[in-house]
Amino acid sequence: MNNGHPSKTARKVALNILTLGEKPEMSGVIPPGIIDATEKLLVTSGAAGTTTVNLYRSPQMVWVCEAFDWMMPGQFEAFAHRKAFFDRQVRESLTAGVVQVLTLGAGYDTMGWRLSYEFPNVTFFEIDHPATALLKAKGIEKMGPRPNLHLIAKELRLHRLTDVLRDDQNWDESASTLIIAEGLLQYLSTQAVRELFIQCALIAEDSRFAFTYIPTHQDGRPDAGPRKELILWLLTKIGEPWRWSIRPDQLVPFLRASGWANAPELLGKHTNRGVELYAVAVKAGRTRCFQERGVNA
Ligand SMILES: C[S@@+](CC[C@H](N)C(=O)[O-])C[C@H]1O[C@@H](n2cnc3c(N)ncnc32)[C@H](O)[C@@H]1O
Repeated sequence: MNNGHPSKTARKVALNILTLGEKPEMSGVIPPGIIDATEKLLVTSGAAGTTTVNLYRSPQMVWVCEAFDWMMPGQFEAFAHRKAFFDRQVRESLTAGVVQVLTLGAGYDTMGWRLSYEFPNVTFFEIDHPATALLKAKGIEKMGPRPNLHLIAKELRLHRLTDVLRDDQNWDESASTLIIAEGLLQYLSTQAVRELFIQCALIAEDSRFAFTYIPTHQDGRPDAGPRKELILWLLTKIGEPWRWSIRPDQLVPFLRASGWANAPELLGKHTNRGVELYAVAVKAGRTRCFQERGVNA
């Protein structure tokens, strides 16, 4: 991912979202407006041409994606559930008093663009590797920029999050903040993930952190499902290897060591998670603060 090329996995997630829109049974799962917004973003950014987009928005592609679902069982539909989970996290956090949302490794996700229009008093930030973020910024510019959506092009391994955000005049460290890392953490080294969580605990006085992670298999490698070796090999081949994973029973001590407290009560119900797990954490010592505001939340 440091080879200067836009993320292939971010493009793949976005294209899969288009295909999921062709499945009638997904219409009650997938967030409203996401299909058209994703199509627009892919085309206006140049991340995918209209021919590719039309191909992915076809029943034939549903068949192809389902035929290849054996590689990571459940993962195709899991992308729809994942998008729904993070939209829900944003809405519930806003009800609980959050006024600032930061998405790390946002890729071609359209949540910030969609919800910044619906919630003009909330400020949305996205950070991604420059190769992907600059392409996305080009697309957002053509789709209609939002005054409350700020795209930041930074490689998270090379910059401290605290420095990046303190340099940004729109960032308010006193604002209640939701941080999102959707499908990101597995691409970072163990040290980078630890540092990222520590940095995240410092960027806002009052915050919660919703993220996905890959559990560690008993052989110590990321558990990408029954075809783990093939998947991990393919990801390495395309230049986006999975590096970090954690055993679920290690999550609580990991979070505690980096200034966070696990908050399973904020997870809500989610199904069809593919090979990923979900977690929500609150800044250690802040749990009461959220509860006092009537969080589910
Ligand atoms: C699998 S994609 C997920 C994209 C998006 N969150 C989604 O779910 O649609 C992973 C994203 O993380 C970004 N990423 C990975 N490593 C990064 C790094 N070191 N710094 C910034 N972004 C990074 C990639 O550029 C890519 O957009």
